[in-house]
Amino acid sequence: MKVLVTGGAGFIGSNFLYYMVDKYKDYDFVCLDALTYAGNYNNIKDLESRKNYKFVKGNITDRDLVDKLFAEEKFDWVVNFAAESHVDNSIKNPEIFLKTNIIGTQVLMDASKKYGVKRYHQVSTDEVYGDLPLDRPDLLFTEETPIHTSSPYSSSKAGADLLVGAYYRTYGLPITISRCSNNYGPYQFPEKLIPVIISKALKNEKVPVYGKGENVRDWIHVHDHNVGVDLILHKGKVGEVYNLGGHSERTNLDVVKTILKTLGKSEDLIEFVTDRPGHDLRYAIDSSKSEKELGWELSYKFEDGIKETVDWYVNHQDWIEDILSGNYKDAYKEN
Ligand SMILES: NC(=O)c1ccc[n+]([C@@H]2O[C@H](COP(=O)([O-])OP(=O)(O)OC[C@H]3O[C@@H](n4cnc5c(N)ncnc54)[C@H](O)[C@@H]3O)[C@@H](O)[C@H]2O)c1
Repeated sequence: MKVLVTGGAGFIGSNFLYYMVDKYKDYDFVCLDALTYAGNYNNIKDLESRKNYKFVKGNITDRDLVDKLFAEEKFDWVVNFAAESHVDNSIKNPEIFLKTNIIGTQVLMDASKKYGVKRYHQVSTDEVYGDLPLDRPDLLFTEETPIHTSSPYSSSKAGADLLVGAYYRTYGLPITISRCSNNYGPYQFPEKLIPVIISKALKNEKVPVYGKGENVRDWIHVHDHNVGVDLILHKGKVGEVYNLGGHSERTNLDVVKTILKTLGKSEDLIEFVTDRPGHDLRYAIDSSKSEKELGWELSYKFEDGIKETVDWYVNHQDWIEDILSGNYKDAYKEN
């Protein structure tokens, strides 16, 4: 089995590669990543020694490069993690989100179709469902919830999902889609809430919280997300969408306070800042389909996972500093 993993130098993709490369020693993995600002070769350099793994630097929107790679490697499966993923950036500059997230997906699917890939898996997000009201805890996103997006990021992911569905229906491309809630864990780029809070609090800097911090996210440890993707690849039904959620709804303020408490820092570090435009209120996922059909279950409780995650960042402050100083950009050349 030969598997292409795109976006493997990012947060979730790198965790996925460590998990899969070691678990399936008889499969070969190729990581294709453009190493954008969010791609960090340091995340995956320890994989270099594995015999069933190799790295290719390249952009998923580069049709010639992608075609050549598929012709040479003859992939059985494609797992597409590559994306522009930061909502705030999408508000400032939507265009790159449309290029990578929609056109990049199309380029990968065209090659998958041409070279007879047996499974194209699209890593999507619960953000395609829009948001839920704060005062209706009974409401959850199911796979049938209509797509209803808020930000250019979620719109680009939704556009890609619709295109993936169209390639299944029109061309019979064997696809699956996973829609996961907010991930936390090691190797998350320090632009997202949890690593920002940890890295700033460690330096006793003010930690910014949007609005009143009342927005609710359903937090899942990245390992549990990746176990879900593994199960979808091995047991999922072609043409289907699978939700993956953490059963751990927390307001942003709760998350920040938990982190500060774990670090032994004062809540006085919290600074409320102007809210993000169009900020989604609440995400909450119903993952019962994945649980019933795939036997997927969570292995992390939020309280334990967040403690382990805080410890990881505390013990990897050089990893954060390398990013903040820009040195991480040299990691690929050096290796
Ligand atoms: N982070 C979350 O909480 C979350 C939740 C649900 C779904 N997702 C989805 O999971 C996927 C991975 O998210 P992440 O948080 O790891 O993102 P990330 O920003 O940490 O990593 C993205 C990776 O993709 C690479 N990339 C970007 N544009 C590329 C291009 N044009 N060609 C090749 N590589 C490119 C980057 O270099 C980087 O390594 C995304 O598709 C995202 O939408 C993320």
